[in-house]
Amino acid sequence: MVSGGIFIDAELFFVGIFTLGTIKGMNMSPKKIILDCDPGHDDAIAMLLAHGNPDIELLAVTTVVGNQTLDKVTHNALSIARIANIRNIPFAAGCYRPLVREIKTAPDIHGETGLDGPILPEPEIKLDARHAVDLIIDIIMEHPPKSVTLVPTAGLTNIALAVRKAPQIVERVKEIVLMGGGYHEGNRSAVAEFNILIDPEAAHIVFNEKWPLTMVGLDLTHQALATPEVTEEIAQINTRPAQFVLDLLQFYGKSYRMTQRGFDYPPVHDPCAVAYVIDPSVMTTQKVPVNIEMSGTLTTGMTVADFRFPPSEDCHTQVAVKLDQAKFWRMVIDALKNIGETDH
Ligand code: BDR
Ligand code: CA
Repeated sequence: MVSGGIFIDAELFFVGIFTLGTIKGMNMSPKKIILDCDPGHDDAIAMLLAHGNPDIELLAVTTVVGNQTLDKVTHNALSIARIANIRNIPFAAGCYRPLVREIKTAPDIHGETGLDGPILPEPEIKLDARHAVDLIIDIIMEHPPKSVTLVPTAGLTNIALAVRKAPQIVERVKEIVLMGGGYHEGNRSAVAEFNILIDPEAAHIVFNEKWPLTMVGLDLTHQALATPEVTEEIAQINTRPAQFVLDLLQFYGKSYRMTQRGFDYPPVHDPCAVAYVIDPSVMTTQKVPVNIEMSGTLTTGMTVADFRFPPSEDCHTQVAVKLDQAKFWRMVIDALKNIGETDH
């Protein structure tokens, strides 16, 4: 009986500790991620969400050519770090061009700087001396197996090169949760999404390695619209990082209204991938094999999802389907509140 009492007491003790941790918003084991990005208005919000959410430990930010040239998106990443007070983690620049294709940027959506709209402070922190590909490999290999999630929100050039240089990372990473593609939608062509289209060969490599891969594509991210209700709530936070997001959304919203049919409000793609890592219940997913078209006359860059059959046991890819919009925006807004006021 005594030992039973001790057992119950111990159990209550641990339940108590756990509840306290939850009540205080502390997470005993935040999810470790590397954000590989090309900021980019929505990449910037992804970075803020990762930094401000207590369930995420942002291990590093790596950059790759995409929305703008490598030097511009890297400068933007470092400026965002200053705005949000992100310190003590490495930032590294990666590939300056896709594996095979010519560089294609997106000034029509993100402007000439890649982050037009807000006034950006000069970066304070210095870049890590390593190439992003090496930093990604180092971090994955330094951490216990299956503890690091890769979150690419740009073309997949860095990730493809990392896996070619160090194939052992496939077994080591926990999963890949990427923003890219779409099983029914395209944005840069009738059927291709920007991040996949700019480097389809890299995407082909990444989708064909046997790591668990979640594709958070346009079908999902087009549900994450920054409506006036959302911007109003962000405005009420009344801090510099919140104002930065409002300035971002103003430029980005205008870009979408001017260049994309049917968007009264802009979809913020990239934070959706971070949100899934924080809490997978923020969206529904479906297991389905996905492969990348590299040579279609009209379909290059298409993420071809084959829904015809039940997925096989070894199917390692899934696609995001339906977003819980309220939960998603709560995460973004809470992250901004957690970041609080900063000097820039
Ligand atoms: C994706 O393309 C980029 O312009 C955005 O940052 C996002 O990652 C959406 O197609
Ligand atoms: Ca992006």
